[in-house]
Amino acid sequence: MASASFLPRAPTFASPSLPLKSRLTPRAFQLRARHAPPMHSRTLISSAAPPSTEPKPDSLHRPQGARQKPLSAEQKRFLDSALRVNHAGELAATLIYTAQSPPINKAYPHLRPLMKHMYDQEAGHFQYFNGILAKHRIRPTAMYPAWYAAASLLGWSTGVMGREAAMACTEAVETEIGEHYNGQVRELLAWFKDIEDRGEEIGEELRTMVIEIRKIRDEELEHLDHAVENDAKEANPYELLTGVIRWGCRGAIAISEKV
Ligand SMILES: [Fe+2]
Ligand SMILES: [Fe+2]
Repeated sequence: MASASFLPRAPTFASPSLPLKSRLTPRAFQLRARHAPPMHSRTLISSAAPPSTEPKPDSLHRPQGARQKPLSAEQKRFLDSALRVNHAGELAATLIYTAQSPPINKAYPHLRPLMKHMYDQEAGHFQYFNGILAKHRIRPTAMYPAWYAAASLLGWSTGVMGREAAMACTEAVETEIGEHYNGQVRELLAWFKDIEDRGEEIGEELRTMVIEIRKIRDEELEHLDHAVENDAKEANPYELLTGVIRWGCRGAIAISEKV
């Protein structure tokens, strides 16, 4: 029997050390004031290619020694920005499922285990990035309250529209997020290759982070498959709905990279 404890299991939306009031105050998330330069000043590797074509540096699965060079300022800025987006995206994902699940579970009880499975994975992703941001004192996006409201509204509205619309929402979001993670993984693996080529070694934390981001990326793509299997493409109007959601995701990613 699917868990009836889904609703009470509200995810932790911010660092547990922050009081409730602080969780909704963007300034409170600025654990460290930082003014990263715009991302357009750098070239990101294309995320369009499938995961099977990712660079494969030998050192990804090989424990490293002590000959490590610190990340450059530009690499740190990239990571700050990327992790901030990941954190915001996973927050949004948990909120979408939290809002979608009551109407979907009520109207389509057979989907309850799937909704819970996807929510649980999103909650795990969010917890992971929450920990990374806190550990490295990376500020969450200042748009946190806006994304909180937008994701809840998106989840609720597609949930009440029905199964197909809810699944179309997941399909659209995961298409954008999967591509976003692909680009990030490619960039980080390209760093690894450069580091190897220089005869240096990759930090253990960075190595395990890439492995974790790849795992999260694969789970997002699994959600996309579940959505398509459950008639996402039968949503009406499918093109309009997924087009608007994908546009919104791209906008939220671009804003969260900087703000
Ligand atoms: Fe996720
Ligand atoms: Fe997901």
